[in-house]
Amino acid sequence: MKYSIPRGTKDILPADSPLWQKLEAICRHVFGAYNYHEIRTPVFEKTELFTRSIGNTTDIVKKEMYEFKDRKGRSLCLRPEETAPVVRAGLENGLIRPDQVTKLYYIGPMFRYERPQAGRQRQFHQAGVEVFGSADPLIDAEVILMNVQLFEALGLMDLEVNMNSVGCPKCRPEFRQQLKAYFKDNISKMCDDCRDRFEHNPLRILDCKEAKCQKFINSAPASVDTLCADCKTHFEEVIKMLDYQEAKVVVNKRLVRGLDYYNRTTFEVVAKSLGAQNAISGGGRYDDLVAELGGKPTPAVGFAIGIERVIEVLKKSEIALAQQPKVKIFFAALGDEARKLAFDLVIGYRERFINADMDYLGKSLKSQLKLADKLGAEKVIILGEDELKKGYGIIKDMKTSKQEEVKLDSLAEVM
Ligand code: HAM
Repeated sequence: MKYSIPRGTKDILPADSPLWQKLEAICRHVFGAYNYHEIRTPVFEKTELFTRSIGNTTDIVKKEMYEFKDRKGRSLCLRPEETAPVVRAGLENGLIRPDQVTKLYYIGPMFRYERPQAGRQRQFHQAGVEVFGSADPLIDAEVILMNVQLFEALGLMDLEVNMNSVGCPKCRPEFRQQLKAYFKDNISKMCDDCRDRFEHNPLRILDCKEAKCQKFINSAPASVDTLCADCKTHFEEVIKMLDYQEAKVVVNKRLVRGLDYYNRTTFEVVAKSLGAQNAISGGGRYDDLVAELGGKPTPAVGFAIGIERVIEVLKKSEIALAQQPKVKIFFAALGDEARKLAFDLVIGYRERFINADMDYLGKSLKSQLKLADKLGAEKVIILGEDELKKGYGIIKDMKTSKQEEVKLDSLAEVM
């Protein structure tokens, strides 16, 4: 019986790992420069954490949760995103306080039961940040700038940063009313989900992917046109800060996020080189979530990048971010004595963190040299029985093919 990988998941194979490692290293580097600290939370949480935060009428909660019962019948869920778990962990561990700025970041797998296609998986990875404690538009701008800087550090080009404001609980009733009035006459021609959204959460209609609903959604009222005075000023300030930093950000009235917890600033970065699933990051402000999850009211803002999608762009643009680790020194040994000595020397190099390797299959000298070449070894030490008796080994420089004899007691220091 052969097993195959579950639908919508992917193995990250050694050929791609260096790219992942490099990307993660650059994330840590950039987040570190902005003084964010790493947090790691479990991959599953109580289901209610997500229904409460992401919203009952969102696609994520309605259709995409990996929900299961444990042996005691408790409802748990593989995390579809990391903002709610970070809030939960931040509150539980006293990291989030209303009077202090807390900056956290994470890198890890998320799970959504979506229809798999290019750029859309059921297990995918995000790197993201969350900052708590400040409602200042400066922080919104900082988070967007950091996202842009991260993509620049990775060498990504042809990106578009879209930004919008979804207002706050004060301006939302007016927006909701406008949407209801707008959709009222056509709702019968729209999909079942939209009819349900019309009753329970009309704002969600704007996130519908059905073609037959799109034509109505395209000219629906926009949240940015119904902002209250405070939200309007906040939005203008964020734009001013971004302009001041000469960030190329486009206000996109039609930008809709798939999670309910946002207020005020929302944004997404789109890679023009990708197809349908071209959002490589998304985020925004969520000032009401901390209180919703049991903390004191604490403003917050954050974003997450989709690592698989970013990797896809890097591959498309042939940005050589990282290379496979290459063997520096290879020991080609023949006979038991020589192999024992080779093993000893190899371990010695590795203790000094020099990439060293040898043959483990008892192959001929010719095959061992072939293998050394395949591994990209700079130097090969040939240890034959005859050489060993005479007290020396042969070093072969793989670039020049030059060979020379070296005393056995110097072999530990060739590199
Ligand atoms: P999100 O927009 O749902 O936001 O996800 C962020 C990014 O994750 C997307 O832009 C996309 O690149 C990637 N992504 C999402 N779903 C998939 C999938 N099925 N397959 C591959 N990549 C995917 C959030 O998750 C929020 N928690 C972001 C945030 C942080 N907002 C505030 N703080």
